[in-house]
Amino acid sequence: MEQQASQLKPVGRVVAIRGPIVDVRFDVDTPLPPIHEILETQTDDGQKIHLEVAEHLENHRAKCIAMSSTIGIPRNTQAVATGSPIRVPVGKGLFSRLTNVMGDPIDRKGEIQASLRRPIRKKATAIDPDLDEPSHKGYEILETGIKMIDLLYPLVKGSRSGFLGGAGLGKSILTLELIHNIVERHQGSCVFIGVGERIREGNELYYELMRTNLLDKVVMVFGQMNEPPGARFEVILSGITMAEQLQEEGQDVLLFIDNVYRFCQAGSELSTLMGRIPSETGYQPTLFSEMAEFQERIRSRRGGSITAIEAVFMPGDDPTDPAVVCIFSYLDSNMVLSRERVQAGLYPAIDPLVSSSVHLDTDVVGERHFGIATEVLKVLNKYEELKRIVMVIGVDELPRSDRTIYERARKLQKFLTQPFFVGAAYTGKKGEYVPLVDTLASCEKILSGQLDEVPEENLYMIGAIRSAPREPKGQKPRRLGELLVEQKQLTEEQIEQALARQEITGEPLGAVLVQMGFITESNLVRVLSEQLYRQEKQPARRLGDLLIESKVVTLEQMQRALARQKETGELLGSILVHMGYATGTDLMKALFVQRAHEGGAAEAKLPRRLGEILVENKLVMPEQMEKALAWQKSTGEPLGAVLVQMGYITEDHLVKALSEQIRDQEERPARRLGNILVEKRLVLPEQLEIAIQAQKETGELLGSVLVRMGAITEQQLLQVLSEQLDRAALEIEE
Ligand SMILES: Nc1ncnc2c1ncn2[C@@H]1O[C@H](COP(=O)(O)OP(=O)(O)OP(=O)(O)O)[C@@H](O)[C@H]1O
Ligand SMILES: [Mg+2]
Repeated sequence: MEQQASQLKPVGRVVAIRGPIVDVRFDVDTPLPPIHEILETQTDDGQKIHLEVAEHLENHRAKCIAMSSTIGIPRNTQAVATGSPIRVPVGKGLFSRLTNVMGDPIDRKGEIQASLRRPIRKKATAIDPDLDEPSHKGYEILETGIKMIDLLYPLVKGSRSGFLGGAGLGKSILTLELIHNIVERHQGSCVFIGVGERIREGNELYYELMRTNLLDKVVMVFGQMNEPPGARFEVILSGITMAEQLQEEGQDVLLFIDNVYRFCQAGSELSTLMGRIPSETGYQPTLFSEMAEFQERIRSRRGGSITAIEAVFMPGDDPTDPAVVCIFSYLDSNMVLSRERVQAGLYPAIDPLVSSSVHLDTDVVGERHFGIATEVLKVLNKYEELKRIVMVIGVDELPRSDRTIYERARKLQKFLTQPFFVGAAYTGKKGEYVPLVDTLASCEKILSGQLDEVPEENLYMIGAIRSAPREPKGQKPRRLGELLVEQKQLTEEQIEQALARQEITGEPLGAVLVQMGFITESNLVRVLSEQLYRQEKQPARRLGDLLIESKVVTLEQMQRALARQKETGELLGSILVHMGYATGTDLMKALFVQRAHEGGAAEAKLPRRLGEILVENKLVMPEQMEKALAWQKSTGEPLGAVLVQMGYITEDHLVKALSEQIRDQEERPARRLGNILVEKRLVLPEQLEIAIQAQKETGELLGSVLVRMGAITEQQLLQVLSEQLDRAALEIEE
């Protein structure tokens, strides 16, 4: 069997191993396998090792590069030529899978379902016929939701963008954020190539994608830093082959590469191992052709496109490193990250004065966008100049016009920072996706001086600037603020700071306070619940107030009634009647006044509802009700009064029904919270029923009960409560 196979394919023997370089000798009468062909050999414990022919030597030997560790290959082992270069599986079966350079799965999820394998190298054609075609009808911009990128370095379909920066400046995080933001909204698919970076990063990416349900749109292929240079070098071509197949099927493919510099580095290692003399720059003499071989395969073609986002490590933060220069000559947008910005906490740390994009052009982004972007750059440029002067003479000595520019520039700088979804662990803030229109509008506001009065800290790490109307809306948060001050949770200044910030971002005040570190989440939840509870209590209280106002009961009487209500939990109306302080008709009137305050529609519905309650409780017959309603229509008296006058019910009955109705209303806010939670699928309807029951028994707040039951987390409750309060504030406003 083996003999048969060896008759078909040339078989050599391993004669020398130097790290990842393996020499294989063939028989004199067998032709040497061509360059890039894969040979298969084995370690002594039976593991398959792939070798790629890199050079033909004298004495019928081939110098090969190993695609995995060569430890354990005995000398003289057979190396069988496979007759083909590296071929990776391609197509839809790769989605949500992790593979290595050979296209073999490394996620332990079994074989990859792919009917087709393609060689990772393409034969060069003299002229690509597709390039002659008008390749695009126009530029198609992909919105990233990252303010700085959308504004200054627009991501165009079929282009190449790069993040360049030294160690630890945030290249990987930016790449991940783009995956997060674009893939979620984007119709096409995504290929991620991990080249020579940390081994754990693949793992993190995998779990992040799983958490955000994006896994099935992404193909991942890795040759990380633990692998030999051969794997780190070829993996980029494996990945691009997978992307090309998807593109040819008509998809728009996003290609993420972290990190392209490692590809140059692997090439350089290989070159040294092969004994080649480096070029005068210290890198391999083939650097430019190797780079071209893969970069030129990134472009749009009929039907589909490949849009590449490349992270590029800059050794020693040096943009003149020859490998870096070689890479960025291929990039349409260069986003250079600066250590100075990182030190100032300005993330993303893209330095706008060093970075550039060919797509910042009126043909691509339009007049308005272009105008705003150039103005922003101009102001930031001027700031660099002024900064030096300010260091010497101080801001106060600047001429007025310069000072305005100086301050606006600082605001722009702060505004162009942004909390990232994937950076939440570092910043403690939830990420923000900012649509381009908002970014443009916000920048315009800063440039035109509309925000000159706003302190610059308020623009730091926020999303868009939303214009929050000052007055009525302010009332609600103010109330929360007052409550917090009352309870000595916060100082007045803290609240003022938070309110100023809230005005810009339009976020709920509570969230702002937590972000600014003024209050813990659990304290906030407690206070919010209390506030809501107060609102819930208001109808009853308001009824009391009305009765006092209309001199039906005195203040002392009301206090006594409220005290009793606290003890017995009875309805306020019943108590007042039982204690002889008010009659059913009094209550009725007060209730009407209260309703009238709250709007005509409610008033119109009220008698019907009262009627319905009475009919439901079988206190009046439906016919009686019809008559009473007819009578009420002609006289305009309250329905309750009519019913009593007509002798259909006693006052006592009326009081019960009215009180019930009021309680119904009181319960509604709590119910409403419950319903919202159910609607949002945070709580199951059954859970809600149990909670409401428990709440009735213990008198606790519904939110607290749900948290105690473990039905929702405090954070979820906080979110919903804030929303509900917001809505309540709006209703009051209306
Ligand atoms: N947007 C951001 N928000 C908050 N922190 C950030 C952000 N970006 C980067 N950081 C911080 O910088 C650190 C390094 O980020 P990252 O791993 O992305 O850098 P890198 O440029 O890929 O580094 P390396 O060259 O080592 O791969 C992060 O661990 C985080 O602490
Ligand atoms: Mg990184």
